[in-house]
Amino acid sequence: MNRPAPDPAPVSVLFVCLGNICRSPLAEGVFRHRVEQAELTAFFRIDSAGTGGWHVGDPPDPRSSATAASRGVSLDGQRARRVDPEDFGRFDWIVAMDRANLRDLERLRGRIAGAAAELVLLRDFDPEPGDGEVPDPYYGGPDGFDRVFDLVDRSTAALLAHLDPTR
Ligand code: 4NP
Repeated sequence: MNRPAPDPAPVSVLFVCLGNICRSPLAEGVFRHRVEQAELTAFFRIDSAGTGGWHVGDPPDPRSSATAASRGVSLDGQRARRVDPEDFGRFDWIVAMDRANLRDLERLRGRIAGAAAELVLLRDFDPEPGDGEVPDPYYGGPDGFDRVFDLVDRSTAALLAHLDPTR
């Protein structure tokens, strides 16, 4: 019997930083932009969250939004939320910005049974991984946001190539 192959299930990706207002909104926005440009929207579910709860409900930091806009990426509509242990059952990939985020996420993962998500650092995918972290730009100047954008831009390109279910 000849049946069409089922469509691949969407790949779900959650980007995580500390506050969910600077780095992970940029990662979410840039990755979503890349997915849209590649006409792969139906194949992905994309979100971001923070390990801390101080900014829950807030839009991205204006410096992240301005940096993204200057590179043609919109962060409109994003609102900060806190990562939840249940996210480990809801997402295929949880992508941390730095090692402190990774440690906090490992602790959360320990709280639920059947945590299926792959937990990685975004810069595991960076062709120039450096120290492996996307540094927190919150207390620095505008240069920090440009640097974060560059790291996120090339790392998400490689992440998309790795996850593209149509390849
Ligand atoms: P993010 O940056 O983790 O990239 O969103 C931060 C945002 C807020 C704070 C720290 C880092 N904060 O301490 O409020």
